[in-house]
Amino acid sequence: MSHSNALDSLLSEIRRFAVPADFSAQANINSADYAQLCAQAETDPEAFWSALARQHLSWHQPFTEVLDERRAPFYRWFADGSLNVAHNCLDRHLHGATRHKAALIWEGEDGAVRTFTYAQLHREVSRFANALRHQGIEADDRVAIYMPMVPEAVIAMLACARIGAIHTVVFGGFSAEALKDRLEDTGAKLLITADGAWRAGKAVPLKRHADQALLREHEHQVEKVIVLRHTNADIDLQEGRDLWWEDALAGMESSCPALPFNAEHPLFILYTSGSTGKPKGVVHSSAGYLLWALLTVRWVFDLKPEDVYWCTADIGWITGHSYTVYGPLANGATVFLYEGAPMHPHPDRFWAMIERHGVSIFYTAPTAIRAFMKMGQEWPERHDLSSLRLLGTVGEPMNPEAWMWYYETIGGGRCPIADTWWQTETGGHMIAPLPGVTSTKPGSCALPLPGIHARIVDEAGQPIDKPEAGGYLVMEKPWPGMLRGIWGDDARYVESYWAKFGNRYYVAGDSARRDADGYYWVMGRIDDVLNVSGHRLGTAEIESALVAHPAVAEAAVVGIPHEIKGEAICAFVVLRASHAGDDRDTLGASLRAHVAELIGPIARPDDVRITDTLPKTRSGKIMRRLLRAIARGEEIAQDISTLEDEGVVRELQK
Ligand code: WT7
Repeated sequence: MSHSNALDSLLSEIRRFAVPADFSAQANINSADYAQLCAQAETDPEAFWSALARQHLSWHQPFTEVLDERRAPFYRWFADGSLNVAHNCLDRHLHGATRHKAALIWEGEDGAVRTFTYAQLHREVSRFANALRHQGIEADDRVAIYMPMVPEAVIAMLACARIGAIHTVVFGGFSAEALKDRLEDTGAKLLITADGAWRAGKAVPLKRHADQALLREHEHQVEKVIVLRHTNADIDLQEGRDLWWEDALAGMESSCPALPFNAEHPLFILYTSGSTGKPKGVVHSSAGYLLWALLTVRWVFDLKPEDVYWCTADIGWITGHSYTVYGPLANGATVFLYEGAPMHPHPDRFWAMIERHGVSIFYTAPTAIRAFMKMGQEWPERHDLSSLRLLGTVGEPMNPEAWMWYYETIGGGRCPIADTWWQTETGGHMIAPLPGVTSTKPGSCALPLPGIHARIVDEAGQPIDKPEAGGYLVMEKPWPGMLRGIWGDDARYVESYWAKFGNRYYVAGDSARRDADGYYWVMGRIDDVLNVSGHRLGTAEIESALVAHPAVAEAAVVGIPHEIKGEAICAFVVLRASHAGDDRDTLGASLRAHVAELIGPIARPDDVRITDTLPKTRSGKIMRRLLRAIARGEEIAQDISTLEDEGVVRELQK
């Protein structure tokens, strides 16, 4: 079922790390709190969620109804209440000491540092919200954000939230083509971008990509483009369409009312890969999403007012949305932001910044940990990392060696590690240890959070209770942070997440097992989705990019285990007859570049194998599991009797 390389070591992992007594003594959630939360969630789920939503969010109009299941699986939460998300992240922190507390501390790749207090961030967000309105943006309009990791990206997101515009952040590492697809699918009226972004000393030409995405022949509805000056790249401004960020702000008032929006008002659309077709626009709500992002930061990261909190994810991913912007700011935290490459100019860049800014909570991905581990412990050892008190990971199963290195070398053996399992669709953490309560096992994401009803089920949808048996990871009940749908495609929402077991469960698309202690061990995707450096990529997307190349007749993409990235991309390609004589090395290189150009550098295949045919069943389906075995150089033990032509295997193995 799974093809995770970490599986063998995970299956034999028996180490267990108890919660340090001094940590649990000060934790936001201790064992007694945890027992109480679990009991409430069990006996009366609606009362449980209702109490949390009243306690932690500021409502304009309080809700009277908690969960509306009438159109399940299109669930609605707190649906007759209203609030403003930006008010909850900013305005309500303007009283008392939080007013002049740092909300954002940003460090650029060149070492420049900028800080915004809550009062300053509130002012910048209000001014930019007025600028958006001045450009004709109203509630429900879609606004695309294609920016570097700078404070203005956060300001743009919160400004949209303030006026009820729906943002769609497009990762700055995505191509012009990927941006164009998202602009078209959302029907965005306005695009916010920058002249460029810094990455390892080089300027990524964001505005040039935006210009390509906005060519007149495309079916987008973008009327205005606001451009932040950042790298000072030489760019063209199109008269009547493009304006500089500072010009958009000129004359704008520094107050902008935070109008109430319905709890279910869409806050944002974020694209993620599925097993078929183009990426899906996952829609998140206002109140339910914000509640879950806020609560999980308090519960799982044990966030306190004095923490300096750093999540290394780009805001172009859900991790950046929930755990750089909405979750921490709704809690009034100090958030650290970094723009640039992780090892620039040296492999100790992250550790130097943790020391410099006194970071106390640090959240990153297993792929980054493995890459740092490979560079050697002399890099972190040069720095005083004693400010750290909690570490987190997300994105893929954590292999125990990397877990131990993170725990000892970065955490000094004193910081609990929160391995958090969740997805773009879930809005926030779902399965994760509570650092003051749950002992941890390297490679396991521990237990479902209070209110989350995870199950492992078999092919027929029957719960599997036997320890160690693997199955589909599903959720039995809705939760406030869940996605509300796929933008413009209700049928795809039902089909992708609910239909497999007759709408009884939310189907995550992962396989997992549970050990005798009830701990979850996520094994990997069960669909044709790859996890490359913690990023989700559909094999279908990469295949269609390959087939768009004039030399390619057919393509099949599979994942192979990779030491740093988790999975690497291996593409099998059949050439068109007219290109059969092309030089294979040159062609391989140009196909890799072509995919990077169409999707983005993260989708560049590591290996392109040109072949005469692909293995297919008699009904014409490509046999991916066979290709996977071939790509890994494994012995072919599987049944190939359904194969149309068995000779293909020998030819591919060559
Ligand atoms: C997929 C979701 C949620 C933000 C990061 C990626 C995998 C995520 C873990 C973990 C094992 C994990 C799953 C999941 N995944 N976290 N702690 N242990 N696997 O979000 O792009 O929506 O991808 O990432 O396969 O389905 P995403």
